Amino acid sequence: MPNFKTAARESRVQARAAPGRDDKRVGFLVALLVSATLTTLAQAADFQTLKGHGGPVMDIDVSAVTGQVATASFDNSVGLWSGRTPRWLEGHAAAVKVVAFLGGDRLVSAGDDNDLILWNSTDGTSSRLKGHTAKVMELAVSPDQSLIASASWDTRIGLWPAGGGEPVFLEGHTAGVNAVAFSRDGRWLYSASVDGSIKLWDLETRSEKRVIDRNGFGINVIGLGGSGQAESWIAYGTQDGTTRIVDIETGERLHDFAFERRPILALSLSPDGSKLATGDGHGYITVLNTETWGIETDFRAALKGPIWALAFSKDGSVLHAGGIENIVYSWPLADLASYDPMATETPQFLKKPEEMSNGERQFARKCSICHALTADGGRKAGPTLFKVFGRQAGTLPGYPYSETLQGSDIIWSAETINQLFLDGPDHYIPGSKMPMQRIVGPQDRDDLIDYLRTATTAGTSEGDTQ
Ligand code: HEC
Repeated sequence: MPNFKTAARESRVQARAAPGRDDKRVGFLVALLVSATLTTLAQAADFQTLKGHGGPVMDIDVSAVTGQVATASFDNSVGLWSGRTPRWLEGHAAAVKVVAFLGGDRLVSAGDDNDLILWNSTDGTSSRLKGHTAKVMELAVSPDQSLIASASWDTRIGLWPAGGGEPVFLEGHTAGVNAVAFSRDGRWLYSASVDGSIKLWDLETRSEKRVIDRNGFGINVIGLGGSGQAESWIAYGTQDGTTRIVDIETGERLHDFAFERRPILALSLSPDGSKLATGDGHGYITVLNTETWGIETDFRAALKGPIWALAFSKDGSVLHAGGIENIVYSWPLADLASYDPMATETPQFLKKPEEMSNGERQFARKCSICHALTADGGRKAGPTLFKVFGRQAGTLPGYPYSETLQGSDIIWSAETINQLFLDGPDHYIPGSKMPMQRIVGPQDRDDLIDYLRTATTAGTSEGDTQ
């Protein structure tokens, strides 16, 4: 539904991205290094950022009780923010896809390691909930906080009593489940799946009630709205880039919003329900007015990569957004589009191929999202590879290795790293937290190792994507 407002915005974005911009950026960065007092900083400082994660930000939740912000990251950790100061909740063995507050001081998170973790932020305890056999994409908490619902790519929905006890699994989707949401009265659960359907479940009988809509593409995200006591419409965002509003009772498709951008990856309703924000694969954020269904804002929030995470602040005045850049941007909603986009620094894995040697390219594409090359290591899913040659596997102080790697007698060298990616970590060190990955070409492995040899010893900042 491209309207003139969008078109105008589009051209403005293009004008910004026109040649010359890069020079300006470089100048900007140099200025930043030279002096922190330059006035050019003003624009960047107008909105708040939350910095600390060492990997892309996959989800954001805001406590309805305290207004506190929690983040889930590809770096395997959950961030719990007091102002701009993070506290790290560590325990997941892979990327964290979703985090949700449960009352004032408890949280639940889940992701690629298939487990849910319940955290008590007051006493620092946590407990692990096991049952899913594939990654968990989304969590929802019932209005009375007694039940947690999880959406998993094992095609099931988990229902977990928040106070402890055995889970129940709802089965009926024919592909991975991406999203779940409780009805306002807590009696019903809505779910959306890669199979393209939205289902309604009766939580009393724990059974499927009906299909609300069927879509030709997978559905990634959902949200419930309407001004009555019960929700009257469901909004969903699809893999092919459509945001659709459907009447829950009649199944009538009320509104469709589709741009030349896909997929829709994030969706959030403001606390008073008056605004619906979506984020997409091209880095745009769209804010819709849920009374008029007009587009309030449609702007390119990230120059690089997608928007994965969106959440309104407790008072609805700020929109928190996360994507590829490891940083949460908190935009004042009043004049979203007047701010400079985020993700202006190119992470190494998105650098232009022709700017890198083959070895660096291998590292950038296949390793840099999880490994730093610097002494401090940043906050990344994997241990820093600084001085990795000669290191006994699993021995970097402070890094939470798997038991497999901790007990290993491998010494990292050109030979063992070569073997690691010839066989793939799942074969070379079965049980390790390293993802399955083989580098088939001998030349690519050689070039990667040559690159690592210099980049991991020199105290270089070359590979530091932070
Ligand atoms: C998705 C994240 C991810 C990617 C991508 C990744 N790794 Fe890892 N890597 C890890 C994790 C996590 C560990 C720790 C494994 C464990 O504890 O079992 C690890 C461990 C290692 C180790 C052992 C380090 C030590 O201290 O013992 C080496 C060497 C390594 N990775 C090299 C690489 C290289 C080279 C690449 C790219 C070709 C790569 N990794 C890609 C996550 C990743």
